[in-house]
Formats: sequence, C-alpha cells, structure tokens
Amino acid sequence: MANEKLEQLKRQFTERFGGSADGIRVFLAPGRVNLIGEHTDYNGGYVFPAALTFGTFMLIRKRNDNVIRLASTNFDLQGEFTMETAVYDEAHDWINYPKSILVHLAKRGFTFGGYDALFHGEIPNGAGLSSSASIHLATAYGFMSMEGHPIDRVQLALAAQEAENQFMGVKCGIMDQFVIANGKKDHAVLLMCSTLEYQLVPFKAQGYKIVVGNTNKRRGLVDSEYNTRRAQCEQAVVYLRAAFPNLQLLGELTKEQFDANAHLIQDPTVLKRARHVVEEIDRVLQSVDALKANDLVRFGQMMNGSGDSLRELYEVTCKELDVMVEEARKIEGVLGARMTGAGFGGCTVSLVRDDMVDAFIEQVGRNYAERTDYKADFYVADIGDGVKEVTE
Ligand code: GLA
Repeated sequence: MANEKLEQLKRQFTERFGGSADGIRVFLAPGRVNLIGEHTDYNGGYVFPAALTFGTFMLIRKRNDNVIRLASTNFDLQGEFTMETAVYDEAHDWINYPKSILVHLAKRGFTFGGYDALFHGEIPNGAGLSSSASIHLATAYGFMSMEGHPIDRVQLALAAQEAENQFMGVKCGIMDQFVIANGKKDHAVLLMCSTLEYQLVPFKAQGYKIVVGNTNKRRGLVDSEYNTRRAQCEQAVVYLRAAFPNLQLLGELTKEQFDANAHLIQDPTVLKRARHVVEEIDRVLQSVDALKANDLVRFGQMMNGSGDSLRELYEVTCKELDVMVEEARKIEGVLGARMTGAGFGGCTVSLVRDDMVDAFIEQVGRNYAERTDYKADFYVADIGDGVKEVTE
C-alpha cells in the first residue's frame, strides 16, 4: 500500500472530522470476482471465487461519546446515528449499508461506542464485483477491531449476508461475503456453501492473467430476477422430492441422481434452471481438479461451459454480457470467458495469455463499443487478501 495514498486519505478524514490523524486506523475489504460456480451458493453447492486487490477502505477514529458519524469520498451525504436508535432510513441512502451491518452485529450481542469513519470505495458501483458486501465487511471488521471484540471471520460473513438479505431485499447466498472475509493473496476459495467448509487453492495460472471486463451496463432487474431464480430452484426441489423425500437443496444431488430423475420436473423453465445448478456444481469440482493439475486449457473450457449455461439455461445474461464474452473468446490466447456474479449486466471474467492482454483490452473494447451502446472498462485482476487492517 502506497504510504502516500494512506496519507491522502487521512488528510481527507481530518478535513471532514477535524482533529489530528492520531488514532486513525485504516481497514480494507476487497471486492471479489467469481471464477466459476455461479448461482450455486444459495443451492448449497460449490463456488470458486477470489478476492481482488482493490475494494473499500474505511478510516476510523474513536469518539468520546456514542455518536457514529459516517462520511464517504464517493458520496456527498454524511450521516450520524447511535446504536440505540439505528434503523433503516431511506434518507440515509448509502449510510444504510454500514448501519445495517452494525445493527446485525448488535443483534449478535456486540456493542459499539462512538466513532467517526470515512469510507473510500474503489469498486465501480453496480458492476457486480460486490461493492456492497465489501462495505459491509470493512465496517464489520473495522468496528469489531476498534472495540477489541473477538473476530470470527465466518460469523462476520454470515452477519453481512443477513444484512444484505434484509436490507437490500436480495436473497443472496454467502459467496461474496465469505470470500471477502476469508480470501487470501494468490489463492481462490473453494467453498461448499451448505457447510461453509472451504479450501484455499493456489491460483498459479503461469503465463495467464485474469481479466475482468466491466460492461458498464449496470445490473438491471437483478433484485427481482435473482429472487425469481431462487424460487425456481426451490420449485425444482419440490418436484424432485417425489424421488428424494428429504431433499432440501439442489446441491445435495449428484449429476447422475439428477439426470435419472429430471423427468420429475414438469415445468420446462424450472428444469433448465435446475440443470444449470447441478451441472455448474460439477463443473466447479472439475475445474479445481484441472487447476491443481495445472491444466489451464481444461479450466478455461469449464469457464466457457459455465458461461454458456448461464446464458442458455439460467438465462441471467444480457446483450452486453453476451457480446463481450463472444468478443473475448475470439482473441487468440484466451482460454475461457464468461459472465461473473449475479448477471443482468456487470462484469465478465476471462483467462488471457500474458502477451495478449493489451491486444485483448484493445480489441474487445473496440468491438464491444461498436456493437453496444456502452464503453467497457478492464481490470487485470490480481488476487488479494480478505478484509484486513492496513498499517503502511
Ligand atoms: C450475487 C450474490 C451471490 C451469488 C451470485 C451468483 O453475487 O450476491 O450470493 O448468488 O450473485 O453466483
């Protein structure tokens, strides 16, 4: 972390809140990119995401009263509240994000005194790189650290998921919060979402880079369509109970069990959704095996398989995502390309040979702009750590 940047952020903090920089501590929660395993988390399946090196900073300093004052370098609105009176307030706009996680931590018995805190977000909003989970985790980890409360990263992730479910009304799974809490530099996280057992898998893509392409089409419809997909998966479980009376989640079935009983699902749309989920879970395991065997070609094929299934079976892409993925796959040295995150806009992820990264950005960017009404942004993604304190 460049010292200069920290100094600048601290100056912004003291300009807003007064006083000196003494006692200011700095926390950083990353954004995330999911490599493979999409829409499997809330079905009790596997996901394989990684934390990014950029995310949300939170600078924080203790106050002598119980007032919590929050400001951001991204938004003009500042807000203040105390834990005794903290409730959702529409006029509080972005402040509701940090507030909601504090409320959910308070429900778990944690107390918080007064603080001044300044947020600085580097994740483009609405790009599907989990800016909201990143704010939640920066707040949770930072406030818990300031209070000296014991930190259990899995519990913080669960509290953040609860806050997202209740605050945003998106019944999201645990993937984003979990990887932001538990990610590790140069590793992707293989997570079984029903048990929260996980494995850090070294991501050694020798000679290749992960390139994230932002369509800059903000995720539309995502709340309602996301919840619809989730309901369709629950519907599939109901049909399949004719063969598996105790079935709770699609992720409990092997691909073979599913194939043998798929005829029980009478609604063709529900059948497509369920097939995506079961096959995607299988793809995650195959892709992790491929990665461990250093077979990046196979890993890329799995990424493509995931992307095609999200377009054809789960139907969560949109024109912009489809065009970008199509253009990405045309470039020599691209092993795989697909949408990442919830869908309906946001980002793609591609595995691109080192020497082709510049050409990739130039050509995909040009063709994408020609074929859509948007201009793309690209980030060559390094895999970073989960939420942490920044000390230098
Ligand atoms: C969003 C949700 C996650 C997950 C993905 C799709 O990012 O927050 O829980 O469901 O979509 O894989």
